[in-house]
Amino acid sequence: MQRFAIILAAGKGTRMKSNIEGMPKVAFPLLGKPMICYVLDALSGLRFDKLCVIAGYGKETVASLASPYGEIFTQEEQKGTADAVSAARALADKEGVTLVCSGDTPLLTDRTIEALLLAHETNHNDATVLTSLVRDPYGYGRIKRNGAALERIVSQKECTPELSAIHEVNTGVYAFDNHLLFSALDRYLALPAKEYHLSDIVNALINDGRRVGAFAIGDDTEALSVNDRYQLSVATKALRERINKRWMIHGVTFEDPDTAYVGPEVKLSRDTVIRSGVHIYGKSTIGHQNVIGPDCYFENVTIGERNKIQYCHLVDTIVDDDTDLGPYFRTRKGVHIHSKAHVGNFNEMKNVEFGEGSKCAHLSYLGDADIGEGVNVGCGTIIANYDGVNKFRSAIGDRVFLGSGSTIISPVHIGDEAFVAAGSTVNKDVPSGDMAIARAHQENKPGYAKVLKEKALAKKKK
Ligand code: UD1
Ligand code: CA
Repeated sequence: MQRFAIILAAGKGTRMKSNIEGMPKVAFPLLGKPMICYVLDALSGLRFDKLCVIAGYGKETVASLASPYGEIFTQEEQKGTADAVSAARALADKEGVTLVCSGDTPLLTDRTIEALLLAHETNHNDATVLTSLVRDPYGYGRIKRNGAALERIVSQKECTPELSAIHEVNTGVYAFDNHLLFSALDRYLALPAKEYHLSDIVNALINDGRRVGAFAIGDDTEALSVNDRYQLSVATKALRERINKRWMIHGVTFEDPDTAYVGPEVKLSRDTVIRSGVHIYGKSTIGHQNVIGPDCYFENVTIGERNKIQYCHLVDTIVDDDTDLGPYFRTRKGVHIHSKAHVGNFNEMKNVEFGEGSKCAHLSYLGDADIGEGVNVGCGTIIANYDGVNKFRSAIGDRVFLGSGSTIISPVHIGDEAFVAAGSTVNKDVPSGDMAIARAHQENKPGYAKVLKEKALAKKKK
């Protein structure tokens, strides 16, 4: 039996109340990943012979996110969910089962979809609706049953007070016999109406005496559909709890999981401790026995083992093992901190190899440099890598000592074991083992401090 999938993603998402041009609801991110990509990832774990994504408002955005997963079809005018399905008319003559779901249901799992398809196939249904019991059913289509059988899906608009009290809802996920789906659509779409609802196709099939089932799932969070910003926050929270729980079960400690944000593509490892206020996004991997936080922001980082990293902002960065970073260390792209390094408070690095066991304890900016092993970067060192137009790279050898307040004007090469005196401005290479001193000579004027003070006081009286 062939299986097809249709993902509805053509709506604007009016209830999101966004003024951003061409930004469809399904592109809004949760933990850094667009909503529709969660649905597509859940589906891509299953076997579908064809996957169709229906785009409309913000089509380019949807296409850029969804085209790696399947084929994009266009719904020209957003005339409802049934009309949207009909945009995948290319499937109409195929034999098989078609799964339909919405791009705004990011918590739906592959297990649930597979269970729905299995229930649909083993019961030989013509259509099966995935349903869920939710605490607040407002806005959802209600599942009206007659005994165990599905009698009708009732939209919010049609709800009498009695029907409003039904907590079993339509999740917007369905399995259909493909032929029946498209023939029912043909009949329904020929009728005059402003909007065409997919739930009415289900109702029409019931009226035709077809075999229509309602398959209920236990976990109500899976049904969460994001229509407005409040639901976006509820779904983000549920997703965060799901991810954090998975890592805790896996052997990661979370000091306060309510304040820890771990993106869906992040990998954590055993015996790492995530302290409060930690955000880890993008394609990040964190090894064993690290202590991360409090208060860190990481994006696309690869972190080895046994590091202690607190109050840091690290982006596109590799950290090896046994380092001690922060508080208040910031990296931008292309930084690699080698093992046993120490980078302390208020430092910034960009495009830097920072060698094994090297230290940069306070208040430095290092940009575009290869820094060797066992280097001491004194407080307030600056690598001046930019002339206003071009960027230049410097190389600093092993066991170099850069005195406090050094300014290294790139490009220069400082050889192994060289010593740069504090306060020097270095714009020429320093050979290995040499000492560079580049600053004005000191002159002392005996007793002159008092004279200066008296002059200043005299000025003040005037
Ligand atoms: C829909 C269901 C409701 C169900 C709920 C579950 C209908 C009419 N209602 O309501 O029974 O309980 O989902 O979450 O089916 N879309 C299009 N083209 C359109 C309209 C919508 O592609 O013309 C897409 C949207 O982008 C969205 C999805 O269909 O991804 C669902 O639309 P939405 O407006 O969110 O439907 P709900 O009001 O949530
Ligand atoms: Ca919805």
